Amino acid sequence: METWDAIRARRNVRVYTGQPIEGPALDRILEAGRRSPSSQNTQPWDFVVVTDRAQLQDLSKVWQGARHVANSAATVALVAPMRSEESQRGWVRYDLGQATMSMMLAAVDQGIGSAHAAVGDQDRVRQLLGFPEGRFCASLIAFGYPADRPLRPIRNPNRRPFDEVVHRGRW
Ligand SMILES: Cc1cc2nc3c(=O)[nH]c(=O)nc-3n(C[C@H](O)[C@H](O)[C@H](O)COP(=O)(O)O)c2cc1C
Repeated sequence: METWDAIRARRNVRVYTGQPIEGPALDRILEAGRRSPSSQNTQPWDFVVVTDRAQLQDLSKVWQGARHVANSAATVALVAPMRSEESQRGWVRYDLGQATMSMMLAAVDQGIGSAHAAVGDQDRVRQLLGFPEGRFCASLIAFGYPADRPLRPIRNPNRRPFDEVVHRGRW
């Protein structure tokens, strides 16, 4: 898919066909995340990939808005170091956002849908995924083939108008 089409076709897909994602397609998504830019190239991320149905169902309970994780073909948990300084925490979140979007675009390019999910219960998610102390799970990204409608460029996205968002030269 053309990059411009992928950007326009990406949306949160929360219902999936049940078709598994083949290894090379999933690895391309993860590789897109690994290649993402980060502040001072710190790469403050680890990706825990979950495809086991029972584990996905357990993960889907760590946040009320994570229910779609249960039926995803694969979910990637973004794990990052806890930072004491507020500014550092901000950059970690920024970097994770970049990795998220890279993975979502690599997914849509392959016809695979994706959806964010926040994490409420850190203790439970640590228990389920086994990541070390001093790290937290910032979010989950669910992936799967869309069961609602195919990924095609969206003509009128639900967004603030272009001229309201864009300021040229000065606000
Ligand atoms: C930081 C962040 C957290 C989000 N958390 C959730 C979530 O917990 N559950 C969910 O269903 N969607 C979540 N979303 C998805 C947004 O609701 C969605 O991106 C937004 O409504 C725009 O819709 P679209 O992605 O389909 O264009 C999250 C998105 C972001 C960027």
